[in-house]
Amino acid sequence: MSDNGTLWPLETPSQEGLADGVVLLRNFCGSDAASLLQEIDTIAAVAPFRQLTVPGGHTMSVAMTNTGTFGWTSDRAGYRYTTNDPLSDRPWQPMPRSFLALAELAATEAGFAPFTPNACLINRYAVGAKLSLHQDKDELDYTHPIVSVSLGLPATFLLGSLQRSDTPRRIRIESGDVMVWGGPARLIYHGVAPIRPGSHPLTGSFRINLTFRCVMH
Ligand code: SIN
Ligand code: FE2
Repeated sequence: MSDNGTLWPLETPSQEGLADGVVLLRNFCGSDAASLLQEIDTIAAVAPFRQLTVPGGHTMSVAMTNTGTFGWTSDRAGYRYTTNDPLSDRPWQPMPRSFLALAELAATEAGFAPFTPNACLINRYAVGAKLSLHQDKDELDYTHPIVSVSLGLPATFLLGSLQRSDTPRRIRIESGDVMVWGGPARLIYHGVAPIRPGSHPLTGSFRINLTFRCVMH
């Protein structure tokens, strides 16, 4: 009970500095989760989730789509950003205003204002799906942070350093949590451990992640 008699919800938003340039905003957007997921359904109805092939020939376990001016994609020829969805050859759909507002607010909260992303990668993890340690380095400008929003099933985020060989820290992240990294941490190695079986009221047996980037000015 606070001074004014308000009973705070169990999961009050809080901020954790995990490393220089890495901020975890706990339950930053929990109350927006349902409406964010509705927007994602609308996006995926036009640009469906797909499992991309990486240059080595392996198929990623995470299914992906995009919204924004640029979308991240991969095939045997390499990783890149495109303005059109390679499946339809039509432009990725404009980023919903609510996505932009959330990304801007989270970046500001984490000390990285101003941030106006022009790409949002949408990752969908089924149980067992994972993302190996990698750096986000296909953008042309590293002065902007990465804003990463978690929805649905929880995950273990692998928080590495600038050296691939360092053992990553394991951070449990839940629906509504937002992780922001930039500045000295912009090129940290990171990944996601295999998603554990479970059921979430909003996403069932999936985890969804939104990763906002500024690809170029
Ligand atoms: C990513 O690195 O693109 C996604 C990270 C996450 O799913 O939390
Ligand atoms: Fe990443």
